[in-house]
Amino acid sequence: MLQLTHLIKSLYLLFLHFNINYSSSPPAHLKISIKSVNMKHHLIWSPWQVSCSTVNYTVQFQGEYELHKLNGSWVDAHDCQEISENQCDLTSDLASNSDYYIRVMTKCDNKTIWTRLPLTFNRRNTVLLAPAMTTVIEGDLVQVGFSPILPDMTVYMESWSEGDEQNALIHVIRNYPYHFSIATHRGEKMCFRAEALVEAINKSCSIHTRCISTPETAENSAILVAVSIAVVVVVALAIFLGCSTTRFGPYIKQTIRHREPLPNVLLDDRLISTPILFIDVSMEHTDPLLLFCPAEIQYTGVEETG
Ligand SMILES: *[C@@H]1O[C@H](CO)[C@@H](O)[C@H](O)[C@H]1NC(C)=O
Ligand SMILES: *[C@@H]1O[C@H](CO)[C@@H](O)[C@H](O)[C@H]1NC(C)=O
Ligand SMILES: *[C@@H]1O[C@H](CO)[C@@H](O)[C@H](O)[C@H]1NC(C)=O
Ligand SMILES: *[C@@H]1O[C@H](CO)[C@@H](O)[C@H](O)[C@H]1NC(C)=O
Repeated sequence: MLQLTHLIKSLYLLFLHFNINYSSSPPAHLKISIKSVNMKHHLIWSPWQVSCSTVNYTVQFQGEYELHKLNGSWVDAHDCQEISENQCDLTSDLASNSDYYIRVMTKCDNKTIWTRLPLTFNRRNTVLLAPAMTTVIEGDLVQVGFSPILPDMTVYMESWSEGDEQNALIHVIRNYPYHFSIATHRGEKMCFRAEALVEAINKSCSIHTRCISTPETAENSAILVAVSIAVVVVVALAIFLGCSTTRFGPYIKQTIRHREPLPNVLLDDRLISTPILFIDVSMEHTDPLLLFCPAEIQYTGVEETG
């Protein structure tokens, strides 16, 4: 046992020795690293230390396709040819789930020096930050929104009434603006939880549970008042129109008769029914305030891959 511990210690020291030696050995090389968050890939490197009158950098990459199908050729990164900056946005270049080799060529006067990224990079290793979930109450609806969203993201949202999690409903949200409306009852506490999936890399992140209560009565009475006012206005209008029809009836009759000659019996019928018709239409107009809007699953047929 003691021997084993000793052996491990020795191996560890040996490892440290090689590691330090390795990292301190290339004196005139760049330190390259890649940072990838939310599918945005940024290559960065330390500035060239050796003095030269002009220095610039060129980035190249090689995926599995170039390696196996194109005889191991290298591809120039789109925006990073002979640049003076110490960074390069490789987001549009590394567009498949391949293991990429990446290298930087430093041009210092007449010399060119190649430095490789020590490990291959795969965009599946990107760090996904969960989008923020917002919940807003609008009347009897809870509006749930997610942002920021990546181009290829699908949000799987679960919603349930507090205490009834086993009967949670799952909603799939695929398209911009990633909003979702859910009908609730007054005073009900609704809970939401979501999973955001980037299909291109089959990687997801969780959005924590959040619960929200719809207010008991305050808005209810506000809506009632609004509806009552609307009804009063409609009735008043109807009465006014009814009076106008009686008073100006003959003129209207004449006009209508002029446009489309109808038998008198029909004409009278129509005029009597006019105010009633108006009430119907207006009542319908105020209805949406009371309507129970079914929660719709937003869906788009567009599938983005690659
Ligand atoms: C790869 O190399 C072989 C032989 O060296 C050649 O015949 C072929 O055309 C090359 N392919 C490409 C895509 O360059
Ligand atoms: C990059 O550096 C090389 C060598 O120093 C030079 O010949 C070339 O003109 C430079 N390119 C740019 C765009 O400055
Ligand atoms: C560049 O190379 C030429 C010959 O190849 C040499 O004469 C010149 O001194 C070099 N310049 C620098 C800055 O190293
Ligand atoms: C995606 O990942 C899950 C595990 O996280 C796995 O079960 C599933 O098969 C994967 N799907 C594809 C298409 O690779």
